[in-house]
Amino acid sequence: MNAALQNVIASSRKIAFLGGAGLSTESGIPDFRSSDGIYKARKAYGVPPEVLLSHDFFEEYPEIFFDYYRKNLLYPDAKPNNAHKALAKLEQDGKLNAVITQNIDNLHQLAGSRHVLELHGSVCRNHCIKCRRFYPVETIMQAKGVPYCECGGIIKPDVVLYGEGLDQRVLMDSIRAIREADTMIVGGTSLAVYPAAGLIDYFTGKNLVLINLSETPRDSDATLCVHEKIGEALSFVLED
Ligand code: OAD
Repeated sequence: MNAALQNVIASSRKIAFLGGAGLSTESGIPDFRSSDGIYKARKAYGVPPEVLLSHDFFEEYPEIFFDYYRKNLLYPDAKPNNAHKALAKLEQDGKLNAVITQNIDNLHQLAGSRHVLELHGSVCRNHCIKCRRFYPVETIMQAKGVPYCECGGIIKPDVVLYGEGLDQRVLMDSIRAIREADTMIVGGTSLAVYPAAGLIDYFTGKNLVLINLSETPRDSDATLCVHEKIGEALSFVLED
């Protein structure tokens, strides 16, 4: 158990959490940069995930996009792990004001978190690009090839692709939550993708805690750095 982390959380009144793919590896969902995911994508498709998951690629090669998307981004059987559960508990205890996530897997909501700001969207929301009709994730999973709406338009996941802008309301709410926080915990993210990674710069509170297996470019800015699995590092929260 990490006593320093325990002390920080015990003394915090308003925590803002910013997380990424490392949150969900303990739920069996591989991350983008530390696992062999990138190399797998290169080998199977000849291009890196940043290209496969770009707006231009979606428009030009929707068949390949949906093949990669279904095989690599949809994990319908994944369950929240101790990291998701601990963050939900901190919110219930009135200590945490927002979970800001780059993940699209819905696991924070499944763990019980209520104020979740999804910077990169969600696999659970899908809309026809022509008539905007809503479709659940099951439609995407069950479709063969490109999923089409009854009107003939392609059904596009509400996932922010490279080359697309972030939802400004989500971004502004995230900045507000970070500005109001006395503690910011950043976990399970390589901090390689902007603007998400730059959100740290809005934090002016007391404790900046980084919990990540590998080093990040912002380790030297943190008041506390924990290089452990985040589910294990936060599991003490669930024991109270
Ligand atoms: P990355 O794969 O870049 O980084 C995940 C980080 O989590 C790595 O630094 C790992 O060391 C760490 N990690 C893995 N498992 C962990 C665990 N159990 N506990 C603690 N740390 C762990 O993922 P993100 O930073 O989320 O964007 O990537 C950002 C964006 O790049 C994603 O949202 C996605 C991707 O392209 C889009 O799809 C738009």
